[in-house]
Amino acid sequence: MEDLKGRNGIVCAGSTGIGKGIISVLAKYGANITTFSRKKEKIDNLKAEILEKTGTEINAITADLSRKDDLIRVIDSAHDKYGKIDFLVMNYGDPRVDPFMELTNSDWDYNIEMLLKSTIRMSEMCAEDMIKSRYGRIVYVTSMTTKNPLQNFAISNSLRSAVVALGKTLSIELGKYNITVNSISQGYFYTQRLQNIIEKNANSSGKTVAEVEKDLKSEIPLGRFGMPEEIGNLVTFLCSGLASYISGTNIQIDGGAVKSI
Ligand SMILES: NC(=O)c1ccc[n+]([C@@H]2O[C@H](COP(=O)([O-])OP(=O)(O)OC[C@H]3O[C@@H](n4cnc5c(N)ncnc54)[C@H](OP(=O)(O)O)[C@@H]3O)[C@@H](O)[C@H]2O)c1
Repeated sequence: MEDLKGRNGIVCAGSTGIGKGIISVLAKYGANITTFSRKKEKIDNLKAEILEKTGTEINAITADLSRKDDLIRVIDSAHDKYGKIDFLVMNYGDPRVDPFMELTNSDWDYNIEMLLKSTIRMSEMCAEDMIKSRYGRIVYVTSMTTKNPLQNFAISNSLRSAVVALGKTLSIELGKYNITVNSISQGYFYTQRLQNIIEKNANSSGKTVAEVEKDLKSEIPLGRFGMPEEIGNLVTFLCSGLASYISGTNIQIDGGAVKSI
């Protein structure tokens, strides 16, 4: 993965959790990274932590995935700092998890902007650079809900499947420019979001947090939740020269949780 040294990429929604895990592995291999999330304090903490851990300075700014003008600003910032963009990692904020009948129009509108339209906008803007340089890597970090739809996850189940389908289409259309496009369907990873979901399940079921965790882990053959850096390893591989012939796939990383073949 040494060829990542000096490559320029964007990782979306990177300040905590899975995004941070991805950035910490990419930074270790010397990639130039632009990232963003909405809250300045989180972004500043990330910047300091990555510098301390890896010695790499990243370009980290505040921006909201659901706002078109913010995404244009992210691309401008990446260009100003590093020149062309070689790889794009779409990671996201948290879609609302609740029964379909409780979701509002504004939940759908926000999540369509945040998850689906952001993917369309960022892919289009980054692909312009990649087509010019005849090199590119695009990775969409989605969810196991694309393989195994879950109750109360209507937004995630439907919009992430659209993202996977977009990735497949782009792999067909952009392959001739030496651009690979893949998606990842992750299972349960130990982050703040997972802790929130476990607490919510505990409250609604009358179980303790420890009982809900135990139930979830019993569905995972490896018997544990994943760590964000383990997604980082997969994304870094897909962005590197080692993955030069992998395109159009949707790769599960879930400790074996999804049982279909
Ligand atoms: N953890 C899991 O087990 C798991 C499993 C399947 C899928 N996922 C999905 O993977 C993604 C990342 O999850 P995570 O567990 O890492 O969650 P997390 O720890 O809550 O991190 C979410 C990140 O997204 C940023 N963010 C939220 N809304 C944003 C927006 N509108 N624009 C820009 N940045 C935004 C947050 O920072 P700010 O607050 O500063 O914006 C934060 O850095 C989510 O889409 C989640 O649903 C997670």
